[in-house]
Amino acid sequence: MNVQEHDLVVIGAGPGGYVAAIRAAQLGFNVGCIEEAPALGGTCLRVGCIPSKALLESSERFAEAREHLASQGILFSDLKLDLAAMLRRKDQVVATLTKGVEALFRKNKITRYQGRATLLGPGRVHVQDGKAGAEVRGRKILIATGSQPATLPGITPDGDRIGTSTEALSYPTVPKHLVVIGAGYIGLELGSVWRRLGAKVTVLEFLDRILAGMDHEIAAEAKKLFEKQGLEFRLGCKVTGARAKDGQCVVETEGQPPIQCDRVLVAVGRKPNTEGLGLENLGIKLDAKGFIPVNPAFATTAEGVYAIGDVIGGPMLAHKAEEEGVACVEALAGRRAHVDYDTIAGVVYTHPEIASVGKTEQQLSEAGREYRKGVFPFRANGRARTLGQVEGMAKVLADAKTDRILGVHILGPHAGDLINEAAVAMAFGASSEDLARACHVHPTLGEALREAALAVSGRAVHV
Ligand code: NAI
Repeated sequence: MNVQEHDLVVIGAGPGGYVAAIRAAQLGFNVGCIEEAPALGGTCLRVGCIPSKALLESSERFAEAREHLASQGILFSDLKLDLAAMLRRKDQVVATLTKGVEALFRKNKITRYQGRATLLGPGRVHVQDGKAGAEVRGRKILIATGSQPATLPGITPDGDRIGTSTEALSYPTVPKHLVVIGAGYIGLELGSVWRRLGAKVTVLEFLDRILAGMDHEIAAEAKKLFEKQGLEFRLGCKVTGARAKDGQCVVETEGQPPIQCDRVLVAVGRKPNTEGLGLENLGIKLDAKGFIPVNPAFATTAEGVYAIGDVIGGPMLAHKAEEEGVACVEALAGRRAHVDYDTIAGVVYTHPEIASVGKTEQQLSEAGREYRKGVFPFRANGRARTLGQVEGMAKVLADAKTDRILGVHILGPHAGDLINEAAVAMAFGASSEDLARACHVHPTLGEALREAALAVSGRAVHV
């Protein structure tokens, strides 16, 4: 059997794995990357971040045309939805980006193996490509296999009526009534898409609030806005089962009447992809939650085997996996590298967007940390007025004694882009005063963030 040898073998070509592979190649490693799917890019590019953002963008344009443009004097008749064209555009965006990763692999001379990887023993990986299979050897091995949608007891997704985010990115027709289970990132983003395109959408959430990990004030404000957009919420609602028959579904919940609908989206979190990886052949044991335990250098308990991204736990975010991938291979190349987990932001791409970095008010209170808070509403921001998007606020939380920024939370237009400024400021250990003193261009949305920083010491100008 033909055995290929590499300095580094990366298993998984999602944002964690493919970025690690490229960085390692830049550092002079001979890299092989094993990916089961025909296209590179992982969940994020193929069935996650990118297609969902393409649909969020298109559906928002449709809703804007239907509901908001008349107020700007733009009138037209006969607005129609061509869902097939919208889905095709989404697929084209995905195809362009996954091909882009292929080109980057060629440019960096990364050897790509298509097939399912199983660890055989130290430095040895079997690739099953549907035919004979092959062995690939690596001095070092990096596991970046990501995660897949979790489901609930009593629900078996059927890949059609009862599905996960993957199906919800490609419904061939707009559902009449979509029931979304879980008011987290996926439930709110994809629930918003189909609501804008005309579906009745009911979101069932086990907890008594949406967006569990987010700042409570921001999440509560967001919920009001989503309700105005027509999303219906049932909080404190435990789903116990769902079944489909003849194109109709029934969702059962504890203590409430069953709900009839025509599609169910299960969005109750994700679970790490570890099954069939052959971890037992290297003595790697999973932790209590099913993740691969690693040390701060991303080393597993097996010599020469490393792991990053969703499969090791922490926030299941593409950019977190990328950071870890880069830090891991830079350390392998003898460089100093670390991931600053305090400055990894999260964004929910609803309308408006919700973005967050650092600690929430609740986390600070629980930790007994004294903080000062500055809030600025977008309705007082000139640029937001010109955009016609005045809902939401920016919030800066700073240490009561040192003034160091501890958290920034934004609900508002382009919050996902604005949060990067906060993350950079925090990475440099900025105080709210630093952010407040930096000249911000007028008129921009960023001025709202600056005003929130000014508001920490009661100096906001426009409120
Ligand atoms: P999530 O963890 O964000 O939300 C799941 C929700 O389901 C929670 O609020 C939970 O309380 C609820 N839930 C659990 N069991 C339930 C039950 N029996 N009945 C009703 N509700 C129940 O998970 P989600 O939305 O599936 O996303 C998965 C991962 O993907 C997240 O970790 C997220 O970080 C990532 N993601 C990130 C995106 C982004 O960065 N914009 C977009 C989409 C996903």
